[in-house]
Parts: sequence; structure tokens; C-alpha cells
Amino acid sequence: MAHSFSNKHIVIAVTGGIAAYKVAGWASSLVKEQAVVDVVMTEAAKQFISPLTFSSLTGRAVFDDMFTAERSGRISHISLGREADCLLVAPATANTIAHLAGGQADNLVTTSILAATIPIIVCPAMNVKMYEHRATRNNIALLREYGYEIVEPETGAMACGDFGPGRLPTWEIVSKYVLRILTDSTLAGHHVLVTAGPTREHLDPARYLSNRSSGKMGYALALEAFYRGAAVTLISGPTTLPSFPGIELVEVETAQEMHDTVMSRYQQSSIIIKGAAVADFRAKHQSAQKIKKQDATYVVELEPTADILAELGRRCDMNHQILIGFAAESENLESEARRKLVQKNCHLIAVNSIVSPSTGFGADTNQVTLVHKKGATPLPLTSKEKTAELMFDYIEDHFLPLQTG
Ligand code: CTP
Repeated sequence: MAHSFSNKHIVIAVTGGIAAYKVAGWASSLVKEQAVVDVVMTEAAKQFISPLTFSSLTGRAVFDDMFTAERSGRISHISLGREADCLLVAPATANTIAHLAGGQADNLVTTSILAATIPIIVCPAMNVKMYEHRATRNNIALLREYGYEIVEPETGAMACGDFGPGRLPTWEIVSKYVLRILTDSTLAGHHVLVTAGPTREHLDPARYLSNRSSGKMGYALALEAFYRGAAVTLISGPTTLPSFPGIELVEVETAQEMHDTVMSRYQQSSIIIKGAAVADFRAKHQSAQKIKKQDATYVVELEPTADILAELGRRCDMNHQILIGFAAESENLESEARRKLVQKNCHLIAVNSIVSPSTGFGADTNQVTLVHKKGATPLPLTSKEKTAELMFDYIEDHFLPLQTG
């Protein structure tokens, strides 16, 4: 199940906001990724960007009035919302949102959407006051109720000089919502909890003990679960990776914070993946003041942190919850993973080497072996995104559906 736009048919409905020009870049990206893109525009949108821009980028005539659409013979306003894989409304103005909430079909965009049978994603973008107005909030709530996916706007400086929520999100974000629609919802109804990144154990206000985990593998797993339709919570130690609004992100710093956050949330999750590189030790005493180098014989006394995965192995209902751990090893990979599988009572341990540059901390690629009760399944050396896909394929094939009763 590769995530790509290749050979997919996307309809973009552009309405009259200043952010309309940004959507030309989206159309261009989709075309570069081999998608077929049809653009439908309102009259107001044409004040901001020319249909010629879109037709030049997509190589297809733009639908910009009801009657040319009918005359083109290629496609009708009814089939625009039926034959494609996804209809993306961007930017969606307060006015168009109000018309959609009221079920009006007064132009080619609203008519296509009212008649549509395919998944619809709406990206509101407008002045912050318009966005925060109760009428708009209520209209957006109605669209959600009708089953439209809403990608909430970003907060920032607006073209009009105001500051607040209302900016069109980037393609980096919106494309993930589109890819989710193009992916089979094999994890719909599931809640997936993923931990990622390192923890930091403080010695004094300036220093901490940590490890080289980048969080990339855990973030890739969280995104893969999102694509497959799960509700996802990502509990992350400090990383430099961008957050994504489709995934609930809980940021923690220490092993204790990660422990407490996981324990307060694991019960609602059907799949729990402990991807984080949790510190095994913390300083027994943290200095409130910066430790000075005159203290030449400074010795750090360490105490163990709680083993979160082992505690989950004791607490989880193994018939209804799937528990997966990672093992980052420098030698005896499989036997170490098997020891952890048994000691921590998990369904699966994904083990990888941390001494190979292509699989260790911070690498973009990984090569994991899935160690389970029946043996070991090696996955190929590939990107962390592809590894996440293969891991979920394995989880779905071997552990789903969960036993009931
Ligand atoms: N883990 C955890 N809490 C800890 C330590 C580890 O939940 N305090 C989890 C990690 O998230 C990972 C798994 O346990 O999923 C294995 O982590 P790893 O560091 O490889 O193993 P350790 O338990 O630390 O064992 P060892 O030090 O013997 O390698």
C-alpha cells in the first residue's frame, strides 16, 4: 500500500480568497506526482487567479462556469464530484462555507459539491474575525456533521494585517489528508498510541542525559496509522520534527513524564507502539543550581527509571490491545529482542542495529526484524516511512481483528 498520487484523480474547487494563488502550487505538485487534476473555480476566485494559470499547470480546461462545463461534453458539474477520488475545496471562503452549510447550489463549485458522492476536504481560509465569528464556526460544525473533512487553518499574519487563525495550511499538511482519503481505512475505529524520540534526564538547569534518537521512526509510524484511518496520539520526547495537526501530539521531556502520560492514556488505545528511546537511568539528585567545574570530583549517582513497556505488558489486556516494542541493539539483535519480548510481555519487538549508519539513530532508513512468538520476520532495508507501512501490514495480518469477548 504505497502512498502516492499517481493515477489518482483530484478535483480542486477554488473559491475567492487571497490564498487562491497558493493552490496553483498544489495543483502543480499533484501533476508532478502523476495525478489527474481538474480545477473548478468561482467567479470570485477568478478575481484572484486566472483560470489560465490552472489550465496551464494541469493541462486540462478549467471549469469556471456552469454552462461551459455542460457544453464541454467532457464532464458535467454532476460528474465532477462523482468520478474523481477526492474533492478538495481550497481556499474555502466564509461565503462558500455558508452556502455549503445551507445546502445552496448557486455556482459551479457549490453545485458540484452538493451533488458529490466522493470524499470532500474543505480548507477554510479567511480573515481571523470572519473565521472566529459564531456563524462561521457553526457552519463549519455543520459541514463536519455532513461528513466533510475540515483541515483547520493555520495561525499567523494575514494578508490584511490581522494576526490569528485563518491562513491556508501548507500543501505539506493538506496533502496528508488527501493521501489518507486515497488509502484503505484498515485501521478505522482504532486508536493508536505511539511514543517517539529520546527523553532528557536533567542533572542541573544546564545539563541533561539523553540519547541520539531522532524520533523519525515513531513519527513515521504515527503518520502511517493516520493514513490508515486511525485516531492517533503521539507522545514524543524532544525532537526537531514538525508536528502534524491530524495527529494528537503530547510533548514530554523526561522518562517520568512519558511514563505518566502513557499510563493516563493507554487504556483507550487498541494498538500501542513504544518507539521512544526512553532513558534507563536518571540522576538520583538533580542540582537546583548549575554545577561548577571547581567541583572537580563530580560523580553522578544514577537511579533506574520506570520501564514503561514492561509496565504496559503487565497492565494491558493482551486480547484486546496489541503491544509493540522496539529494541535498539549493537549485538545479538534477535536474542536480545526475544528476551525483551518475553520479559516485557509484548506481541512484537521490532529490533534494529544501532551500529550500522543506515539503520541507527538519526538515519532516514531502517532495517528491522520483527521478533514474535512464532519466530522472526526480517523486513528489508528501506526508508523509515516504508518500514512503518510494512510494520502495519504485519500487525494487521497477524494481530487484527482483535479477539472480542
Ligand atoms: N522502554 C520503556 N521504558 C524504559 C526503557 C525502555 O518503555 N525505561 C521501551 C522502549 O521504548 C522500547 C523497549 O522498551 O520499546 C526496549 O528498549 P531498549 O532501550 O532497547 O531496552 P531496555 O529495556 O533499555 O533493555 P537493555 O538496557 O537491556 O537493552
